[in-house]
Amino acid sequence: MQTVKKDALLKKYHLKPVLPKHVAIIMDGNGRWAQKRHLPRIAGHRAGAHSIRELVRLAGELGIEALTLYAFSTENWKRPPQEVRLLMQLLKQYLRNEVKELLQNNVRLQTIGNRKDLPGEIQKELEKSIQATAHCTGLTLVLALSYSGRADITNAVKQIAAQVKSGKLKVDSITEKMITSALSTSDLPEVDFLIRTSGEVRISNFLLWELAYSEIYITKTLWPDFKTKSFIEALKDFQGRQRRFGGVTNIIGSFTKWAR
Ligand code: IPE
Ligand code: IPE
Ligand code: MG
Repeated sequence: MQTVKKDALLKKYHLKPVLPKHVAIIMDGNGRWAQKRHLPRIAGHRAGAHSIRELVRLAGELGIEALTLYAFSTENWKRPPQEVRLLMQLLKQYLRNEVKELLQNNVRLQTIGNRKDLPGEIQKELEKSIQATAHCTGLTLVLALSYSGRADITNAVKQIAAQVKSGKLKVDSITEKMITSALSTSDLPEVDFLIRTSGEVRISNFLLWELAYSEIYITKTLWPDFKTKSFIEALKDFQGRQRRFGGVTNIIGSFTKWAR
């Protein structure tokens, strides 16, 4: 059933069958979207939250395994308290309203980042939603909340250092794989595609280790305007890329397997 739907969508949007397994998105530009309309910044965040529903459903239907959305960085706590408060309120509303939709679409919710930084009621709401969707086998939706790539790597280093200290691990035996496994994203497939909206050409402390060989797509479209059409355009761009991983040419849409 799922494959029939996927095939129909590939045909409808003229996509090739090879899609990224794990798409990560820096959802940026809500403030500018609102400013352009002479609205308060929160109106942009509200419109941005609406974009998420459409893309989550589409990503699931296309058989993408994981979608990681940068929703709030550790640096975003520096914003005016009023904006932070309203963002947290929006997150609560999103969780309350969306669980039903996530279940209907067989989407499993997860988070990365320091959940303990969030208000208690949001932590509870998150736990409820994560539990409610734990059995879902389709798309994994990962919300990056109070997330910092550097903090995640620092945390991994601490875990490994503790093993060295206890004598379980030798310094010379530390591998890249161990670091990857100690990160909060360890259960997810490699991030093969990063999208950033609103035209900023930077990573802003997102998935620093995981993006080593991701294809990067930056669009001037502001996040609240980034809907199905924009996502399909981005996927088409991905399908036209040559992934080399430091080796020789390998075109994504050509059905050949690339070496890892
Ligand atoms: C992204 O939009 C949402 C969050 C960071 C929470 P912004 O609020 O950063 O929007 P701009 O960059 O000011 O337009
Ligand atoms: C990155 O956007 C964080 C999120 C989208 C949640 P920012 O707007 O916070 O990043 P900078 O300030 O442009 O680097
Ligand atoms: Mg921004």
